[in-house]
Amino acid sequence: MIMTETPIRVIPYTRGFRSTLNDMLFFSSQMHLHLDWSHVDTWIHSADAVVWVATQGEKIVGFLGASRPIGGYTWIRVAVFKDEAVVMPALMALWNPLKMALSALGATHVYWMLFDDWLNTPVANVGFVPHDEVVTFVRYNAPILIKPSRYAIHSANMNDVDRLYQIDCQAFAPMWQMTIEDMRHARRSAAVCTMALDGDDVVGFQLSTAHHRNGHLARLAVLPHMQGKGVGSALVSDLVRYFTRRHMDYVSVNTQLSNLASQHLYTKLGFARNGYDMPVWGIKI
Ligand SMILES: CC(C)(COP(=O)(O)OP(=O)(O)OC[C@H]1O[C@@H](n2cnc3c(N)ncnc32)[C@H](O)[C@@H]1OP(=O)(O)O)[C@@H](O)C(=O)NCCC(=O)NCCS
Repeated sequence: MIMTETPIRVIPYTRGFRSTLNDMLFFSSQMHLHLDWSHVDTWIHSADAVVWVATQGEKIVGFLGASRPIGGYTWIRVAVFKDEAVVMPALMALWNPLKMALSALGATHVYWMLFDDWLNTPVANVGFVPHDEVVTFVRYNAPILIKPSRYAIHSANMNDVDRLYQIDCQAFAPMWQMTIEDMRHARRSAAVCTMALDGDDVVGFQLSTAHHRNGHLARLAVLPHMQGKGVGSALVSDLVRYFTRRHMDYVSVNTQLSNLASQHLYTKLGFARNGYDMPVWGIKI
């Protein structure tokens, strides 16, 4: 006798799936969530979310979603499966419709930051290949020598967000760019956000969060024509001094293994890698 498995079907996400998604995100170990600034409940119902649902018979067995592409580049934001056994068949079923939907929105590259090992094989099986790594640097609380600089460091508030966003778009390659909504969320959740002025011109900014006794530098960007002129160093050393004064135990920051400029800057200012690295896999579609 031939046993036939109930086939997996795939449909676009709608609001009706919300509670199942939340349950699965809470209870499943096969869960990946990569939202830098939004809460999943906000993001999933925003225009940014492109999400598909896998069903098997009456059961919902998985969700896979990505952001709308920026300049052709996008990221997998949510991937969650009912259990280990369903990961591969559900991912296989979900990937093609998601890829087609993203492609129709102009995506050419999709990236996936892997926080857990359980995703390595499934992600490779759908064709993703290693692209880069996100590495973590930390600096334990210790005084910092602030070198004199020609840049004035000012606090940046919500009224400055548009200016900061313009700098961000110019500084970052498309795969690392954020939306203006992300930038607003980021500024709202920041513990400290400062900008560097060269005369009257804003030439760079940093945005950092604080969790208990950990300060985290979440975004640092300098206008391309001003890079290599000490702006980043001025912003980061001022930030470290700010957190030191507030008795933070340490300041952390993530950057890409391929980003030599930022690694040089952090190392120079007393940060060191702590070994918490996250692989970034990618696929051209
Ligand atoms: C990373 C970044 C913020 C650095 O800012 P910056 O103003 O250019 O940095 P600084 O001029 O203060 O330079 C800091 C150090 O890095 C060095 N550096 C700058 N560019 C470099 C490069 N491409 N390769 C190696 N070292 C570099 C500088 O020589 C300087 O070291 P030194 O004082 O020993 O000479 C800036 O390049 C940038 O905005 N990049 C794009 C966005 C980005 O990658 N942000 C950080 C992500 S975590």
